[in-house]
Amino acid sequence: MKIRKVVIPAAGLGTRFLPITKVIPKEMLPLLNKPAIQYIVEEAIDSKLDNFLVVISKGKEAIENYFNSSTYFDYLLKEKQQTHLLSGLSNIIKSAKFSYVEQKQQLGLGHAILMAKEYIKEDYFCVMLPDDIIVSDNPGINQLIEIATKTKSTVVAVQEIPLEFVSSYGIVSIKSKISDNIFQLNGLVEKPKKLAPSNLAIVGRYVISNKIFSSLEKISSTNLSELQLTDAISHMLQNGEPVIAVKIDGERYDVGTPQNWLRATIELDKKQKFNDNNLNYKITKSIEVPDYL
Ligand code: UTP
Repeated sequence: MKIRKVVIPAAGLGTRFLPITKVIPKEMLPLLNKPAIQYIVEEAIDSKLDNFLVVISKGKEAIENYFNSSTYFDYLLKEKQQTHLLSGLSNIIKSAKFSYVEQKQQLGLGHAILMAKEYIKEDYFCVMLPDDIIVSDNPGINQLIEIATKTKSTVVAVQEIPLEFVSSYGIVSIKSKISDNIFQLNGLVEKPKKLAPSNLAIVGRYVISNKIFSSLEKISSTNLSELQLTDAISHMLQNGEPVIAVKIDGERYDVGTPQNWLRATIELDKKQKFNDNNLNYKITKSIEVPDYL
């Protein structure tokens, strides 16, 4: 099986970044000189994914304009013979196809994924959340694709977290250990209030069976205020779809809050300097992460 499609849910209101998100989508906030969503798109392209469906909402047109090479800005650069300044982005636009669908009401991540139902014709597809940036030699989503392809299973990325934070995450319940980093699951719980089944938290990378759409439709009729993706994956699992969790190899930066976004920016700056100097990294040139973050 060949997995080529990725759904990027980007329709959320981004309330934790208000007031800036009143006019700038959270996914377009820059980490250094690139918007958060570009890091996700680059990770996907490095994993041979080339069909993107971005779930957006009103006011998020900046995302569409960004991944479009026929804007007035592109025209001006052409006039000035400076198109090379945008070559990195132009290569992304050339190597992938971008489509958009609107989520009219923000009824949760699961509901955002349901908007992709018409777009996904294949058995398996990827979901990547622009709130999580993963830096790794083997791109984060590729680590999942490798396992999904071998096992024909739904695969979720997880990370060990301190027990006191489990109530803020989707947490997996392990049925059996396949290896040190790979687990067969028997359940998933969204933000467990007490007695979490493990300290393995779901991070924003998934390879999902298209059976998810009927699970989403089934559980959406139970009149929940927010349709959770975790609950739909759990429903799919109870109905026979194998679900595997993979401890992601690499560093994850949560960019969903202003403080974490700043921390990620500083860490990415350090990494960039490290790479630019080709192992001749001078720490004095970088900003240090302040203690209070
Ligand atoms: P979050 O839970 O971070 O919500 O969504 P948010 O709206 O982006 O931000 P806050 O919590 O209000 O600050 C996780 C991901 O799911 C998408 C978001 O865009 C984000 O990428 N999402 C969430 C949707 O696309 N639609 C929704 O209805 C909810």
